[in-house]
Amino acid sequence: MAWDSGRLHFGGDYNPDQWPRDVWAEDRRLMHDAGVTLATVGVFSWAHLQPAPDRYEFGWLDEVLDGLAGAGIGVDLATATASPPPWLTTAHPEALPVDREGHRRWPGARQAYCPSSAAWRDGALALVERLGTRYAGHPALRMWHVGNEYGCHTSRCYCDTCAAGFRDWLVRRHGDVDGVNRAWGTAFWSQRYSALDEILPPRLTPDGAWANPTQQLDYRRFASDLLLEEFVAERDVLHRLSPGVPVTTNFMVMTRFNQLDYWAWARELDVVSTDYYPDFADPLTHVEAAFCADMTRGLADGGPWLLMETSPSAVNWQPRNPAKRPGQLRRDALQQVAHGADGFNVFQVRASVAGAEKFHSGLIPHAGTDTRLWREVVELGDLLDRLGEVAGSRVESSVALVWDWQAWWGCELDSHPSVDVAYPDRARAFHRALWDLGVAVDVVAPGASLDGYDLVVVPTLYLVDDSVAPVLDAFVRGGGHVVVTYFSGIVDADDHIRTGGYPGAFRELLGVLVEEFAPLLAGERVMLDDGGSADVWTEDLRLAGAEPVVRYVDGPVPGRPAVTRHALGDGVAWYVATRTDVATTARLVARMVEEAGVRPVAASSPGVEVQRRRAGAASWLFVLNHTDAAATVATTGTDIVSGVPVSGSVTVPAGGVAVVREGGPA
Ligand code: GLA
Ligand code: ZN
Repeated sequence: MAWDSGRLHFGGDYNPDQWPRDVWAEDRRLMHDAGVTLATVGVFSWAHLQPAPDRYEFGWLDEVLDGLAGAGIGVDLATATASPPPWLTTAHPEALPVDREGHRRWPGARQAYCPSSAAWRDGALALVERLGTRYAGHPALRMWHVGNEYGCHTSRCYCDTCAAGFRDWLVRRHGDVDGVNRAWGTAFWSQRYSALDEILPPRLTPDGAWANPTQQLDYRRFASDLLLEEFVAERDVLHRLSPGVPVTTNFMVMTRFNQLDYWAWARELDVVSTDYYPDFADPLTHVEAAFCADMTRGLADGGPWLLMETSPSAVNWQPRNPAKRPGQLRRDALQQVAHGADGFNVFQVRASVAGAEKFHSGLIPHAGTDTRLWREVVELGDLLDRLGEVAGSRVESSVALVWDWQAWWGCELDSHPSVDVAYPDRARAFHRALWDLGVAVDVVAPGASLDGYDLVVVPTLYLVDDSVAPVLDAFVRGGGHVVVTYFSGIVDADDHIRTGGYPGAFRELLGVLVEEFAPLLAGERVMLDDGGSADVWTEDLRLAGAEPVVRYVDGPVPGRPAVTRHALGDGVAWYVATRTDVATTARLVARMVEEAGVRPVAASSPGVEVQRRRAGAASWLFVLNHTDAAATVATTGTDIVSGVPVSGSVTVPAGGVAVVREGGPA
């Protein structure tokens, strides 16, 4: 592939249209100094490229691309359709999106469009046709970047055009109106539809009366599919005009965003790329970053993939926006690479001086180049260049974690047993426990093949279709180990309860039967008989083949099992029926790992991240020290970061990093 040139890419969004021409030469010189290899150009340039319906202005973009090609910088060229120009929505107000209250949203920010609108779609495809024709053979072109963060601001439009599209989608999914009635359980609350055209998107209903949950769920599926259709339409134009040049769009793989079903999306991308922004208020955001990188690698089917955006330092959109500390940018970048990224890019190359993002950091800060940030940028570019040998190598793991955006959607529907059950919570908790142990984790889709794994984590898989339990069952009988956490297997794909006792789909696998949930009140904590504690959730659980491992001491169901272990066939199925505290989760996970025969990447201590990438006989051990103290990890080879041979162990300073090319010292 054009972008996959045996190097790690470094760069970011580059918006020269925000700057006078005389800055461009300096941009190129500085990008060159920083070792930038890839610039994402034109993401929000529609209004500049097409200032009026019948007027296109490509001259400036020609000049920018020619300049970048001359400076040896590759381009990830945007289709510029991320935000329609004002003339388009002025001429076609119906191209603006409608919210669930029925209000049309106004232009003036970005991503204000209804994805069903013909004016929007025709306009976007006409622009892509021109861009594809003009730049397909441009020497700077490395890949195409369609749209931007689909679903970030407008994930669902509730207009009448979308309503009509929804009905067509429902017919494809459920056959006819009777099929919809069955799937949505419309016998409830007098919701039965007698004709398709009575069906609407889940618009705002009377206070306290929740819209039909399956209607909400199907609308999320429809909305994700609809945006994906837009992506595919642009991609197909580019494939036709520019064969061989890979097409991507930047996902938002974060445990704080769930508007799209990325398993479905990933199949349509030539290169998977994602944006990841730290949550600066979360002291464990670096662990989330590792998890999201593992997720992105899963979407890329093992890799390679690109980190398309993050902030070089501060963002502007959190309530408080601290700068990154010295060394953090390098650690953040190497962490992505450690988890399989073959490129690290940021938003954006030069910090803006006007507009809503002027306080967002850039590679080139407002203060200029005599700054710590710029010096760190230049050092990072050099380091990524020296790490080029890891490009194309893979991360290996014997642990899989099952993750599903649709289960997340189901889990966050209204009127559930407890508002405190958050889909990402247990996934993050178990991933963190594994991360602390130095165990590498792959993230897989429900129902994916589990060949080659020893341990599979199934957190809060509330909604599952019928295909998932048999895969887990066969995996365990064949000798695998599985751990399922509470509020899993509860409903089918239509959000209908699986009856006969919870956790419906996984009852037999786990050898338990739950009669009733017993969620805890806000702030309530129960004691466990292993000395630990738990909150949020308990349940009235009966053993049906499993053995109890931990029991509740108090709370609503004292004496009942809280953690169970079911020996089944040649394997083991664990069930964690409550929200165990951090130390208890860590203890349990350590035991599961040991029983499953899973080995850590390297012996490390909590907060010292270890990952290994391999290619054939070569391997690289990444050590990322997120703690305040120096850390030592056993390995032998050469640390590419310091250039120093390593014999027996490498010591990494507080906040520091090492990448050891393993083998005899060079
Ligand atoms: C997102 C967008 C960018 C920019 C950054 C700011 O990632 O894709 O255009 O708005 O956020 O953090
Ligand atoms: Zn619409």
